[in-house]
Amino acid sequence: MRINKYIAQSGAASRRLADELIEAGKVKVNGKVLRQLGYDVQPGDVVEVSGRIVEPEDKNVYLLLNKPTGYVTTTLDKEGRPTVFDLVTDVDVRLFPVGRLDYNTSGLLILTNDGDLANKLMHPRHEFVKRYRVRVSGMVSRAKAEVLARGVDIGGYVTAPAEVEVIRHDKNSTILEIAIHEGKNRQVRRMCRAIGHPVQELTRIGLGKLVIGRLAVGGYRKLSKEEVKYLKELV
Ligand code: URA
Repeated sequence: MRINKYIAQSGAASRRLADELIEAGKVKVNGKVLRQLGYDVQPGDVVEVSGRIVEPEDKNVYLLLNKPTGYVTTTLDKEGRPTVFDLVTDVDVRLFPVGRLDYNTSGLLILTNDGDLANKLMHPRHEFVKRYRVRVSGMVSRAKAEVLARGVDIGGYVTAPAEVEVIRHDKNSTILEIAIHEGKNRQVRRMCRAIGHPVQELTRIGLGKLVIGRLAVGGYRKLSKEEVKYLKELV
């Protein structure tokens, strides 16, 4: 991005004033006074205007939603079921989901209008950790949990090693935490079925460093600047 546009998008000065500031020697790039009006700012460049570091403001919307069960993550559902976009009422830009969660899965879902970032994050190359809290039927033994962690055949595909923790046993069910790097269709449900313990409830609680925390089911919040920066650095 051209330096004067970069400065203008940070709100520090108009493009014209930015050019004047460059001519006056008030703009530094990576600690050195910039002399070139048409400089193309490179990723990682640190730009200072009158001694203050500036960065273009990101006007995109980045939301973290706690998806309830009973919602689809596509923009339009052929069967007319509610979509996660019905839950976002105060944003007037078109949002995309980063990845998907099943109709019956709840939990962490990122929504954004930054299509470029969404596409990059969904690329299989960026398979960062997805953490799930899962209620499965029956009592999962330590041995079965280890089988799950090592990798199981989910129908022509053996899953990569996963983190599996038995949180507690209830009367007829077990709560597990499962962290996977892959994102095969209905993967967690198929993994649990493969060890004979079908899923009763599935919630995504973490995506990379992002966590669902105490966000109410059906609620959403904006990602912090640090969280957006973290996602951009991942891709
Ligand atoms: N695994 C599943 O089986 N379903 C989801 O929605 C997410 C992961």
